[in-house]
Amino acid sequence: MAKTDKKSNDPKASTKPSTKSSTPAAPKGQAIDIGISADHRAAIAKGLNGLLADTFTLYLTTHNFHWNVTGPMFNALHNMFMDQYTELWNAVDPIAERVRALGYPAIGSFADFAKASSLPDAPVEPPKAKEMIRILVAGHEAVARTARALYPLVDEASDEPSADLLTQRLDIHEKTAWMLRSLLEE
Ligand SMILES: [Fe+2]
Repeated sequence: MAKTDKKSNDPKASTKPSTKSSTPAAPKGQAIDIGISADHRAAIAKGLNGLLADTFTLYLTTHNFHWNVTGPMFNALHNMFMDQYTELWNAVDPIAERVRALGYPAIGSFADFAKASSLPDAPVEPPKAKEMIRILVAGHEAVARTARALYPLVDEASDEPSADLLTQRLDIHEKTAWMLRSLLEE
């Protein structure tokens, strides 16, 4: 843990991220002094690991649905799910690397993802196409809630790169939820 960090703000007094991620191990090696307190870095890294777990879980469910979708909407959904899982796959890397830049390990195992994710795992039996869409709407909304819950903390810590990342993720998840929701209208 960096001893030289200034502790001008007490993150415990602020809004805490609502993620269920486990506490990352204290970093070793050269002290980090990027102008964000050690306590803030730890709390933000934990929240971002939760966002990483959510994003990976939604990625896997979306890819699963790309493989298993059936019915008259097959072609449209098979292709739409491919665009969506590709976007989610590309999103996990910048989230994990932001955790690293803050001085903490990025989680990256099924066990850790299952523990830290606010989303349920993909269903064991592939559901009907419409139920797949409902599950993905709920998933994108859940990831948006995770990202939004972390925002007050990164704002308080003046962690602009994390704030920028959260803003981009919120935009994507809210837009994708809208598009999927629109498919359910008669
Ligand atoms: Fe494919």
